[in-house]
Amino acid sequence: MSSSDMRTITVIGSGLIGRSWAMVFLSGGFSVKIYDNQPGQSAKAVTEIRKQLQELQDARMLRGQLDATQQLALLSGYEDLALALEGAFFIQESVFEQLDVKQSVFQDIERLVGSDVILSSSTSCLVPSKVFSKVQNRSRCLVSHPVNPPYYVKLVELVPHPDTAAAVMDAAHSLMTTVGQAPVRLRKEIDGFALNRVQAAVIAESWRLVQDGVISVEDIDLVMSEGLGMRYAFIGPMETMHLNAPAGLEDYMQRYGEGITRILTSFGPVPDFSGSEGAKSIVSDMCQLIPGDQQHLLARMERRDRLLMGLARLKKDH
Ligand SMILES: NC(=O)c1ccc[n+]([C@@H]2O[C@H](COP(=O)([O-])OP(=O)(O)OC[C@H]3O[C@@H](n4cnc5c(N)ncnc54)[C@H](O)[C@@H]3O)[C@@H](O)[C@H]2O)c1
Repeated sequence: MSSSDMRTITVIGSGLIGRSWAMVFLSGGFSVKIYDNQPGQSAKAVTEIRKQLQELQDARMLRGQLDATQQLALLSGYEDLALALEGAFFIQESVFEQLDVKQSVFQDIERLVGSDVILSSSTSCLVPSKVFSKVQNRSRCLVSHPVNPPYYVKLVELVPHPDTAAAVMDAAHSLMTTVGQAPVRLRKEIDGFALNRVQAAVIAESWRLVQDGVISVEDIDLVMSEGLGMRYAFIGPMETMHLNAPAGLEDYMQRYGEGITRILTSFGPVPDFSGSEGAKSIVSDMCQLIPGDQQHLLARMERRDRLLMGLARLKKDH
């Protein structure tokens, strides 16, 4: 099977992330073939994407140069893997986060596509050397890890397998840039990639501060949403430091490096996230603020996505 004219992308798995990838690639004007092995699932995904594209157009938040009807004309759903893969130059896998499922999906795909087709996984927690261990030609494999929801949060972590060719990383970077995402390259694989490692550090210290009785659940969230997060939506921790001392980063470290080192050495072991009385109390405090039932959680998720949409608009204009 040939890899055609580099205009067709196949998305494998039509859940939350598969559907979002399809919308991102459609916004870049690519033909998107979406496949799911559950009967009826890919058709459902097409219907859902149609609804979402229309809503985005109505809210003037549709991405790309094409209108919703033009983008939808580029989308098709499949229940047959071979047909779904025909003509694609890039495959984005977004099936369940289970190593054996991903390994067997990529084995099946490799049997059906040419050796130049790029195989990309959305995995959040599995390193590429595991995901692609059953693929013969691993030089064309990488992880492209999105952040949910990818339509508004544009970061994509590109993570190579030890055998991944530099040209494949370049091609993935170029594709992600073309469709309006914000790709970053990891130079080698590591558990958690970059985003989840930084996130784990924030989670651990936030949890510890609440568990140790230093601050409430409500207030530690404000430390991020009204404090650190205000800057971090636009500049990262490195630039933040560079701008927080009159003569830049070196000056910042001369002034504050000792204090940061002292604080870091006071961090304790990994906190207990479940089971202990302290952990149960944190969950209970959170659920008093936002009850953990579907109705309340969905309302807050909708609020989060609405605010993210506004933030995405603001970032686009600056
Ligand atoms: N949800 C997130 O926040 C998030 C963020 C970044 C990355 N990811 C990663 O994206 C991937 C998908 O996550 P999701 O949240 O969309 O899951 P999901 O459960 O919503 O969707 C998975 C889809 O894959 C389909 N599927 C399962 N096995 C399949 C197979 N063998 N062939 C074809 N289709 C198959 C299922 O029918 C389902 O529609 C996971 O690897 C996850 O770690 C998720």
